[in-house]
Amino acid sequence: MSFKKKISILGATGSIGQSTADVICGNADAFDVISVTANQNAPELAKIAKRLNAKNAIIADESKQEELCTLLRDTDINVYSGAKAINEASIDGCDIIMAAMMGFSGLLPIVNALEKGIDVAIANKEPLVAAGAQIMALSQKTSAKILPVDSEHNAIFQVFDTKNKAAIEKIILTASGGPFRTWKSTEIYNATVEQAIKHPTWSMGRKISVDSASMMNKALEIIEAYYLFDLPSEKIEVLIHPQSIIHSMVAYNDGSVLSQMGASDMRTPIANALAWPHRIDSHGNKLDLHALSSLSFEKPDFDKFPTLKHAYKCLERGQDACIIFNAVNEIAVEKFLEGKMKFGKIFEIIDHAMNEIYAEHKGNALKDIAQIVELDHIVRNQTVQFIEHRL
Ligand SMILES: NC(=O)c1ccc[n+]([C@@H]2O[C@H](COP(=O)([O-])OP(=O)(O)OC[C@H]3O[C@@H](n4cnc5c(N)ncnc54)[C@H](OP(=O)(O)O)[C@@H]3O)[C@@H](O)[C@H]2O)c1
Repeated sequence: MSFKKKISILGATGSIGQSTADVICGNADAFDVISVTANQNAPELAKIAKRLNAKNAIIADESKQEELCTLLRDTDINVYSGAKAINEASIDGCDIIMAAMMGFSGLLPIVNALEKGIDVAIANKEPLVAAGAQIMALSQKTSAKILPVDSEHNAIFQVFDTKNKAAIEKIILTASGGPFRTWKSTEIYNATVEQAIKHPTWSMGRKISVDSASMMNKALEIIEAYYLFDLPSEKIEVLIHPQSIIHSMVAYNDGSVLSQMGASDMRTPIANALAWPHRIDSHGNKLDLHALSSLSFEKPDFDKFPTLKHAYKCLERGQDACIIFNAVNEIAVEKFLEGKMKFGKIFEIIDHAMNEIYAEHKGNALKDIAQIVELDHIVRNQTVQFIEHRL
């Protein structure tokens, strides 16, 4: 192998974390694993730490430290716990981190890594939605590279001609359309958790699966693309492509449309991001073009999935709107997954937030990460209050 990188995986027990472990195991000469982290799942964290021969295993939930110590007692792996250890210790000594924690909780380690000049392979889109301007500025300041892992953004990254950026007419984010693409609005409103997390083409964590069903995932990706590629929102388009083979495209003014294709397997964008600027075998599923009968495309339905409209509105309004949009959705999805409300309520809560909660906070001058964390926190509390008392 022509390179060797020291890496930590944040969110190692999740869907992206496990796929990252597969890529690393398949390319053992290229990586030394420093830390693996999780929230609560000590048994899975111990398993993955052993599998990757990690130096440290770090669990956010301090009450799980003893269990993790017991599970790893016959090894040399160091055990730590607590959010501070994840945010700070997990990135020490790395060349690159895989940011694959769930939601906004992944923000601080990303910021800390970038401040130290450590490259970030970023799957965790919510921190980019809430703090994209600050994250991109930090990367510029320290020259730490941000490598997109989300399959759409990784596809664009692979075919984005930075030297001819002025010739880019638009980027086209493809979307499978999720499990409810062909459902009527009334059916979507009453969808169960099992139906919402049954994604037609990808196997993912529960939160992102629900986001895919509401098209919130694509909405977050519009904002993610805006920051990652520094393009105005008019140049960011969404196209439904139910087969999830073309992972996104870049259209140039000479009429060329460049795309990246691959099987629906996150090991491909993960391998691309971790190895960059090299290429390695993902050891994942490879595309068999002979087995494909057709590739189809449709316009997205903005009325059935208003989350898409909101994303463009948030970009028009600014960072405060993006933070609110993300925070409210995280709470709404959590309540839906807990069985506390119907799927359709997610749309109602986001509508409320984009009107009332936004009106209360708009114009907030968000100067630093601490203020972003504070606004996120306030909005979460307001959303809980709204769900408990007014919904
Ligand atoms: N899955 C995909 O195919 C995919 C594709 C593109 C982008 N993404 C993005 O990648 C991120 C991860 O997605 P996923 O599907 O892998 O999620 P997931 O399967 O739910 O895994 C989330 C990981 O984060 C950990 N975690 C959760 N809350 C935490 C907290 N408060 N503190 C520390 N660790 C915490 C979890 O630990 P426990 O296991 O202990 O709970 C787990 O390791 C999301 O931002 C998602 O949008 C995912």
